[in-house]
Amino acid sequence: MSSRLIYNIRQLVNVREESCLLRGAALADLPSIDHAWVHIEDDRIAGYGAMPLLPKDLDLLRGEGIDAGGRSVLPAWCDSHTHLVYAGSREAEFVDKLRGLSYAEIAAGGGGILNSARQLADTTEEALFNAAWQRLQEIALLGTGAVEIKSGYGLTVEGELKMLRVIKKLREKSPLSIKATFLGAHTYPPAYKDENDHQGYIDLITREMLPVIAREGLADFIDVFCEKGFFDVAETEQILRAGIQYGLRPKIHANQLHLSGGVETGVRLGALSVDHLETMDASAIRALAGSDTIGTLLPTAAFFLRMPFQPARDLLDAGCAIALASDYNPGSSPSGNMNLVVAMSCIQMRLLPEEAINAATVNGAYAMSLGHELGSITPGKKANLIITRPMSSLAYLPYAFGSDLIDQVMIGGEFIRDRPLIRRPLNTGPK
Ligand code: NIG
Ligand code: FE
Repeated sequence: MSSRLIYNIRQLVNVREESCLLRGAALADLPSIDHAWVHIEDDRIAGYGAMPLLPKDLDLLRGEGIDAGGRSVLPAWCDSHTHLVYAGSREAEFVDKLRGLSYAEIAAGGGGILNSARQLADTTEEALFNAAWQRLQEIALLGTGAVEIKSGYGLTVEGELKMLRVIKKLREKSPLSIKATFLGAHTYPPAYKDENDHQGYIDLITREMLPVIAREGLADFIDVFCEKGFFDVAETEQILRAGIQYGLRPKIHANQLHLSGGVETGVRLGALSVDHLETMDASAIRALAGSDTIGTLLPTAAFFLRMPFQPARDLLDAGCAIALASDYNPGSSPSGNMNLVVAMSCIQMRLLPEEAINAATVNGAYAMSLGHELGSITPGKKANLIITRPMSSLAYLPYAFGSDLIDQVMIGGEFIRDRPLIRRPLNTGPK
């Protein structure tokens, strides 16, 4: 059994004997211990405490000691909404947008999701895997320890299965915790674009895709882009109900561009989360607040599309449970940097640093059904940790938004960044 003790921690953040999903005012409470240690056995958190109370018995102190030297330690980010399996990139559209075209105009002209679908069709499973693997490595170095990944650029039986098989391989090969979401209902492929043909594509999803996905265990969740010009409420409900029959819990892309009714639909169907929420009214907020569904906010997507940011303060005041995620995808958020997501949610949505960190760790874990396993410093949970650079306080993290403030990342008990923390055998004892 491997044993590691990280000691002389300036602040050990999000320490919870037991964790639960946080709602409303509870997000402002980020329990932490100053001048602390945390003990890791194999890939799990075994214990923690304040330095003066570090047990002297050497049973605990076998193994390796890591002197944090005044750095802080927090749970690794839990990014509950990404589309990081994709082919190519779309910076030409980005420039079109700079010239004035809207997201909807680009989509109507065959760009957007359909552009990525064409590129994906021309890409082998192996090349797709390699590109996604690079992105996974990149976000792990930025402190992400758990991630949800969606399909949705296949839009054919073959293409959707290709994406989901790539996600399955990523899950097998990577030490990160990965959840897969089937998003066949991302947009209508051109052959089904006409309203009269919509049912044909929905049938393809429910009769051809879902049975194979369920048989091969390729997805944990099912998602629909519920939006004007994409899938309406009735279509969304039909698809999600079919997914539920196959054991997939719903998530919804809801209320991004319009008041789509997606939030209320998600609540009615017991969705794990409704995501985006740039466009909310009082009744959508009320519906979310009165439910167990998590509202997942994607500030970097709002930023990139130059949209109003999500009304995070209103959601918290109403008592909603919120999570933060990156939406990493080639069209609306070509970045999976959760540090930026946290900073942006403070700067633009007025979340307090404590609220943002809770939303990006413990609540993000719950938004992937991984709350029992990740997102807080809790004995028995997986040892996915961020060790920051020495900082004057935790608020420095979102404040100094452009800096790399991470010194080390631990995934499943192993360090993945090549940084010189002071490490030594523990039989010499920590100072
Ligand atoms: O979450 N809104 C729908 N889907 C993605 C964007 C997909 C794309 O443009 O490729 C999103 O923002
Ligand atoms: Fe998305």
